[in-house]
Amino acid sequence: MSGLNIVIPSQPIPDLAAYLDQGGGIGLETARRFGPDATIEEITASGLRGRGGGGFPTGAKWASIRRSGGGRHFVVANGAEGEPATFKDRVLMMADPYRVIEGLAIAAFAVDAKDVYLATKASFVDVVARLRSAVLEMEQNGMLGGLSVTIVEGPDEYLFGEEKALLEVIEGREPLPRQLPPWQHGLFATVPMGWESATAPGTDPPVSNPTLINNVETLASVTHILERGASWYRELGTVDSPGTITVTIVGDVVHPGVHEVEMGTTLSTVLEMCGGPLEGRKFKAALSGVSNPVLAAKDFDVPLTYEDFKARGSGLGAAGFVIYDETRDMVSVAREVSRFLSVESCGQCPPCKQGSLGITEHLVNIESGSGSDDDLGQMNRLLRTVNDANRCYLGTEEQVSVSSILRTFPEDFARRLDGIATGRGDVLIPLIKDIAADGTVTYDERHAKKRPDWTFED
Ligand SMILES: Cc1cc2nc3c(=O)[nH]c(=O)nc-3n(C[C@H](O)[C@H](O)[C@H](O)COP(=O)(O)O)c2cc1C
Ligand code: SF4
Repeated sequence: MSGLNIVIPSQPIPDLAAYLDQGGGIGLETARRFGPDATIEEITASGLRGRGGGGFPTGAKWASIRRSGGGRHFVVANGAEGEPATFKDRVLMMADPYRVIEGLAIAAFAVDAKDVYLATKASFVDVVARLRSAVLEMEQNGMLGGLSVTIVEGPDEYLFGEEKALLEVIEGREPLPRQLPPWQHGLFATVPMGWESATAPGTDPPVSNPTLINNVETLASVTHILERGASWYRELGTVDSPGTITVTIVGDVVHPGVHEVEMGTTLSTVLEMCGGPLEGRKFKAALSGVSNPVLAAKDFDVPLTYEDFKARGSGLGAAGFVIYDETRDMVSVAREVSRFLSVESCGQCPPCKQGSLGITEHLVNIESGSGSDDDLGQMNRLLRTVNDANRCYLGTEEQVSVSSILRTFPEDFARRLDGIATGRGDVLIPLIKDIAADGTVTYDERHAKKRPDWTFED
C-alpha cells in the first residue's frame, strides 16, 4: 500500500482508543450538530460519488431516501467486494473498520434509519472478525447512540454485491436480484412487486421501507468529509470526481497492489507505482473488473475519473484493474470474462443466462481454432440481446465487456479464425483472495470449477 493515506491509513488502526486519538468520532458529532438536512447538503457539496462501481452522487441518493415515505428507512454498507480485480474494500475494512462504521452511523442519522446492516462475505474470515470487534467497541463506548448494527455474512456469489440481491440475502434468501430497486422495495418491504394481489382487508398497510445502500469506501469517505469539510474534500481530485480513490492493480505488472491516489491521477502513474510491465514486455490492455469496456494500452494515460474513463469509451467502475501484456490473447480474455459472467448469472432472465452461455460457447470455438465466421455472426446476435429485459446489470456487463474486446482487438479474433494461436490462453479472472505486502497475489482458482448452476466440479 502506498500513495495517499486518507481513506486507508498507513498503519492499521489497532483499537477504538487509537481511532478516537486520530479524530475518530468528530464526523458523527458534526452531523448531529448540523442536523440531517445540512449533513446531506455537506455530502452533496463535497461532490462525493459512490465507489461501488457506478459513481452515483452520494448526496443525491441520500436526499431521495430521506424524502421517501412508505415505512421505515434502512441503511446497508456494501462490503461484499465481489468484482474481479478488486481488493481495496478488504484492505480498508481491515485497516480502519471504525471509519466505515462511523460513516454508516452518519448515513443512518441523515436518512433517519434506526437499523443498519454491514454486509460482507462469510469467507472473508479476518474481515468479519475485525468488523465484529470494532462494532462491539463502538457500541460499548456509546458513540453509536443506540443504533442497531447487524453484520451480515453473505455467500461468495458475484451477485451478492448487487444491491437488489444483497437485500434478498439480508432477508435470508439466495442472492437473486429482486424486481424493484432498494428505494422502491427496501428491506422487509411488504408492498406488492407487481404480481401479488392487494393486501387483504384488516391487515397492516403495505410498506416499501426505502433502503440506502453504499459501498464501504463511500462511507469511509463520508466520515472524512464530515470531519474536515466539503471544501477540504474538493481540494482533492477534479470538479466532477473529487477526493481520493483506492485502486487495485493485478495481472501483468511487477508489483500488484492497492494504492490510494487523488482522483485525476493517471492510470499509467499508478502502474508505475506497481513497477510497470514485467521485464521485456509491453502492456496490451486493462479490464476494469468485468463490468466495463476494455481499455487499450494506448489509453493508459487516462486520468482516474468517471468522466475521463467515459470519454475514452470505458468506465472507472470500482477501480480494480487486471492488466494484460502483449503475451496475452484477447480471445482468451473475452472467453474467460464471458465464462465468469455466464456462470455467475442467476438465470432469472433467460436472455442473460442463455445468451451469456451461448456467447461463451462461440468464444471457446473460436479460441480452439475450430471457429468460423458463423460463430462470430451468432455471437454478435446474442450480444445484441443478452441484456434484454434484465433485472440487473450483469447482462449489460457481458454485452459491453465482450463486444468491446471484439471491437478493440479484431486482429486477435481474425488470427484465431485463421487457426493461428496468437498468445497465452492461461487467463484467470482475478478473484482475489489476498495480496501480500510483497505483491504476491493469491487468487480463488476454485471458480474455474464452478458450474452454471453454482455447484462445483470435484
Ligand atoms: C453484478 C454486480 C455486482 C456488484 N458487486 C458489488 C460489490 O461487490 N460491492 C459494491 O460495493 N457494489 C457492488 N455492486 C454495485 C451495487 O449494486 C451498488 O450500486 C453499490 O453498492 C452502491 O454503492 P455506492 O453508491 O456507494 O457506489 C455490484 C453491481 C452489480 C451489477
Ligand atoms: S440479468 Fe442475469 S444475473 Fe441479473 S437477475 Fe437477470 S439473469 Fe440474474
